[in-house]
Amino acid sequence: MTSKTFEFYTPTEIRCGQGVLSTLPNAVRELGLQSVLLVCDPGVVKAGIKDRAAQVLMQANIPFTVFSDIESDPTVDSVNAGLVIARSNGSDGVVAIGGGSVLDAGKAIALMLTNPGSIQDYFGVDKAVRAGAPVVAIPTTAGTGSEVTVWSVLSDTKNDVKVNIGSYFNCPRIALLDPELTVTLPAPITAATGMDALTHSIESYVNKNSNLIVEAVAEKSIALIADNLRKAVLQGDNLDARCNMLVASTLAGIAFNRVRLGLAHAFALPLGNLFHIPHGLVNAIMLAPVMQFNLPANFHYYARIAKLFGQPVDGLSLRDAAHQSVVAVQQLKKDIGLTQTLADFGLTEDRFDEVIDEALLSGNIAVNPRSPTRDDMRHLLTQAMRGDV
Ligand SMILES: NC(=O)c1ccc[n+]([C@@H]2O[C@H](COP(=O)([O-])OP(=O)(O)OC[C@H]3O[C@@H](n4cnc5c(N)ncnc54)[C@H](O)[C@@H]3O)[C@@H](O)[C@H]2O)c1
Ligand SMILES: [Fe+2]
Repeated sequence: MTSKTFEFYTPTEIRCGQGVLSTLPNAVRELGLQSVLLVCDPGVVKAGIKDRAAQVLMQANIPFTVFSDIESDPTVDSVNAGLVIARSNGSDGVVAIGGGSVLDAGKAIALMLTNPGSIQDYFGVDKAVRAGAPVVAIPTTAGTGSEVTVWSVLSDTKNDVKVNIGSYFNCPRIALLDPELTVTLPAPITAATGMDALTHSIESYVNKNSNLIVEAVAEKSIALIADNLRKAVLQGDNLDARCNMLVASTLAGIAFNRVRLGLAHAFALPLGNLFHIPHGLVNAIMLAPVMQFNLPANFHYYARIAKLFGQPVDGLSLRDAAHQSVVAVQQLKKDIGLTQTLADFGLTEDRFDEVIDEALLSGNIAVNPRSPTRDDMRHLLTQAMRGDV
């Protein structure tokens, strides 16, 4: 991957640190916004995070309207509902505070504040014609990296599929990473979202489009997750671990942003859509089997991942060292309490073809280091259904 021609661009300004939420008014003013839509969801409201953001805005006399009707795996309908509220209140920008679902929906609302037509016109890559209204993204999970990515993932309930909007015009302008906002995240969601970030960094690291900058960023992300995810899950109030996970997740977002991901994420869309498995969890289930399948296509890179995890690879053959990366991921998953299989969510063999048909539509298949056949995909689903790997 060293001799490839590539370009790299990441437009979001990142401000990180404990208490950085208090600088939200500066961000809003710097972006020249008069009135913002504060997008969040019921979980963020219940955790008291919406009130903290609202208070900061109120104290600074910044007009805002709250929109909290975002569901996990947000729908096109909720983006349209948010858009109506933003327009009727004269919002000229968005503050999105929440997990990936909220950030993705907030970004899409902002995109539609400035682009003509309907949101369906922008499904796919690089369809938007102008920059969305400015977004300040404040992640409260450390998983998706949506605070820096071009992507919004939405559920199109009419056609029963998950769709992507991908455009630099969809990137937030400023991301605030405040570890205080993730301490209320329950351990199982911390675990699953952290595995999503790890899947982003590993899939961008080994994928066919990767380049030297993506590799450097992904390596740091993998190392941070290897060192901090257990602590973030098992000591939820450990602010250092929480902060390192937020940075790791943002780095992973920067890494995969334009090079895309791999086979685990290709499966994540249909499995999430058809069986309602949370996005992080589906990646946690698929990552080790997919890594084991991909190993022979790129032993070197998997051996380096094993090293980043601190696995005992000295003296091992390249093949055995590479295999240690799978062992490391399996151990991490077990230590953070993720033991579910696809069978636990109702997957049975008679649904395999449906899942594979939708997975094959994903742009993540073409960049996976090893090209899968339908039989390979059936085998991977069987392993993940039984929890064999
Ligand atoms: N845009 C991207 O680049 C990208 C990348 C990967 C995934 N995604 C998408 O992101 C979505 C998943 O996002 P997610 O994994 O962050 O989960 P999520 O946003 O759906 O949140 C999961 C749950 O955690 C709650 N929550 C969030 N923060 C909390 C906190 N600090 N305290 C207490 N509860 C809290 C939420 O209310 C929700 O109930 C999916 O739709 C997925 O497809 C987007
Ligand atoms: Fe993901």
